[in-house]
Amino acid sequence: MKTQIGQDVVQVGQLLAAGQVVGIPTETVYGLAGNALDPDAVLTIFRVKNRPAFDPLILHTNSIDRLHDYVTEIPPPARQLAEAFWPGPLTLLLPKHERVPDLVTSGLPMVAVRVPNHPLTLALLASLDFPLAAPSANPFGYISPTTAQHVADQLGEQVPYILDGGPATVGLESTIVGFEQGKPVVYRLGGMALDQIEAVVGPVDVRSHSTSNPKAPGMLSSHYAPRVPLTLLPMGSNPEPSLRAGALAFRQPFSGIPAAQQRILSETGNLAEAARNLFAHLRQLDALDLDLIYAETVPSQGLGTAINDRLRRAAVR
Ligand code: TXA
Ligand code: MG
Repeated sequence: MKTQIGQDVVQVGQLLAAGQVVGIPTETVYGLAGNALDPDAVLTIFRVKNRPAFDPLILHTNSIDRLHDYVTEIPPPARQLAEAFWPGPLTLLLPKHERVPDLVTSGLPMVAVRVPNHPLTLALLASLDFPLAAPSANPFGYISPTTAQHVADQLGEQVPYILDGGPATVGLESTIVGFEQGKPVVYRLGGMALDQIEAVVGPVDVRSHSTSNPKAPGMLSSHYAPRVPLTLLPMGSNPEPSLRAGALAFRQPFSGIPAAQQRILSETGNLAEAARNLFAHLRQLDALDLDLIYAETVPSQGLGTAINDRLRRAAVR
């Protein structure tokens, strides 16, 4: 299939209405989108991504007002979070309306919903009379895409169109929040920092560690992994010198590793910049055909907690 990369929202809307799946930009990562109310389109998403059917999809819409079509209840803290942070890198788990196919939620009673913050995708969603189911547009288990080119490199042959909205401005998948007895619980750390969430709803539990039956299967421990083995380094330490290793460093390069095989997340130590660079840098290093990639952890505050979470998962094989 010849894939088009462009900004034609009208054409993309027509493809989606015809049951096709396409690449779409969001502020977090690029998504592989299809009509969430069309089981055939949802099946195509699972097939293209090579994703197991037990791993549910996030439903994307363009406004809180449309939520009532897809969920049966919005508890008060969910509404507060939605009003504070949508459009934005936050996904809420809410009781599913029967209109949403079971395939989208892998049979679970909750549906994950979010309003993404990207002008092209918001315009697209506003033009559609259905919501979009969209996982990250990477083959299952690999690093999430933060540019249209990343999507083309890996799924290009299988999608007719990739809507090009430039590099993702956040660079980490959305933070996923569910509610237990009305209390917010974080199931996946992500692009919306915990302290911002807590500023709105008070202290929240974080339950994003993996189990054999995870509430959020995207949190299976081996995920977001490059092909080359990745080893974590505590912040500020230096690895053994090596000509065959690469490094993903936080603020400054390591000694003993060739400069061309190193990437810096943020020279100024800015965690938002580090988050934006994380996946693109990991992809670049993975393409160098090295024996090993060292990755330095970052300060565990703000977005740093989610960055360290992704690095840890990338290190699991
Ligand atoms: O930022 C994002 O969230 C991106 C963009 C494209 O919106 N999407 C994304 O989707 O990261 P995905 O499919 O790669 O990860 C979604 C994860 C699932 O793996 C699962 O962990 C959780 O969301 N999830 C989705 N629906 C769920 C449900 N009904 N119950 C529990 N967890 C759910
Ligand atoms: Mg994903």
